[in-house]
Amino acid sequence: MNLLGPMVALLLVSSPAFAEDFPPAIAPAAPADVWVSFDQADISVMKAGKFPLSAPVLTDGRTSVYKVRPDMLPVLSQLMHDEFKRCGGYLTHGTMAAAQASMRPTGASPRVAYALDQQAVVMPLMGAVKEAGIRGTINSLSAYHSRYYQSDTGVAAARWLQGHWAGLAAGIPGASAALYTHSAWKQPSVILTIPGSETPEEIVVLGGHLDSIAGWGGNSTARSPGADDNASGIAVLTEAIRVLGESGVRPKRTIQFMGYAAEEVGLRGSQEIAAAYSAGGKKVIGVIQFDMSNFAGSGAGIFMLTDFVDAPLSAFTARLVTTYAGVAASKTKCGYGCSDHASWTKKGFPAAMAFEATFDGSNKDIHTDRDTLATSGGDASHSVPFAKLALAFALELAKTSGAAAVTAGR
Ligand code: BES
Ligand code: ZN
Repeated sequence: MNLLGPMVALLLVSSPAFAEDFPPAIAPAAPADVWVSFDQADISVMKAGKFPLSAPVLTDGRTSVYKVRPDMLPVLSQLMHDEFKRCGGYLTHGTMAAAQASMRPTGASPRVAYALDQQAVVMPLMGAVKEAGIRGTINSLSAYHSRYYQSDTGVAAARWLQGHWAGLAAGIPGASAALYTHSAWKQPSVILTIPGSETPEEIVVLGGHLDSIAGWGGNSTARSPGADDNASGIAVLTEAIRVLGESGVRPKRTIQFMGYAAEEVGLRGSQEIAAAYSAGGKKVIGVIQFDMSNFAGSGAGIFMLTDFVDAPLSAFTARLVTTYAGVAASKTKCGYGCSDHASWTKKGFPAAMAFEATFDGSNKDIHTDRDTLATSGGDASHSVPFAKLALAFALELAKTSGAAAVTAGR
């Protein structure tokens, strides 16, 4: 069958160049148009062959969408089969909006059912979380003059963290801590990976930014201790890593702890990482962000952000708070993409963020030389429930194997 004629009509339904060759059919009850999307690679093959294509109604460089008449879909199927030796190979959408939505990055992550079923393994670990451990990391990081993303001390702080996490990873089979370098600025991110024992391709991400800043515009020389923003979040992650490592509990899914570079200058480190994970088709099943955990400006408890987050994951995380962290879970919002969770959300990965207070009650001394441990009360007690939450999030999302449970609490 010669498909050229019908295909031109099919694909160029809105093309003026071909309109005179194919005048509108005198069929008043013609069914409504549909939209079909193709991979760019397929379009190239079609163009290289005998099928000239008009301009798509939508394209993002990877996928292009064409408006077509639904009665021509069987012809298209035949073409795809003949040309590519497969059935279908294109997606059909009832509306332009649906076609557009399908083009948004999904992160290739399957939505997993969140189940709270690891109490026997996780609960015994909660008592091992220590304020002194969190305080120690806050002190180490805030001792750097600044952790500004373009400063030498900002690079040194990232390297210190990589070394510290590598030491903790050394006690965990298969685990490692690596620098993640960024080509556009000096400071690297840091990623600690604990490979999953059963489904290592499924990843649970716990993150926080390791950089600091003086002011809101950026200054590479001013003192910027960033004790609360965000040595506290990195310290929460570090304490969870320590307890997890010493427990002997091992995850079925892969767990990655991330210290992001360059958050304070536009979420740049996390945006690069989330984009790379999306492009690489990585299956990130849940992300949690810890950014500011040590200032008790709204009293005890953990405040879950409600904007730029995934609602089901945030609701599940709130259950983890009340079950394991021993404090109330409340809600608040930034009103804008205020931290690295937004980078993951933008790429279609489910992300949550646990915060120290309501937005209005949070630490007003961040981004100044007054963001010290003293400003947050001189200790890390407000952060202790956050480290418990981090541990619970890691293990309830990654799940643990039966064998690991036997060694829990060792
Ligand atoms: N930790 C803050 C975000 C924050 C500040 C949350 C106050 C809640 C209350 C973060 O490090 C930050 O400063 N983010 C920037 C935005 C970013 C895109 C540069 C901000 O809030 O302006
Ligand atoms: Zn900040």
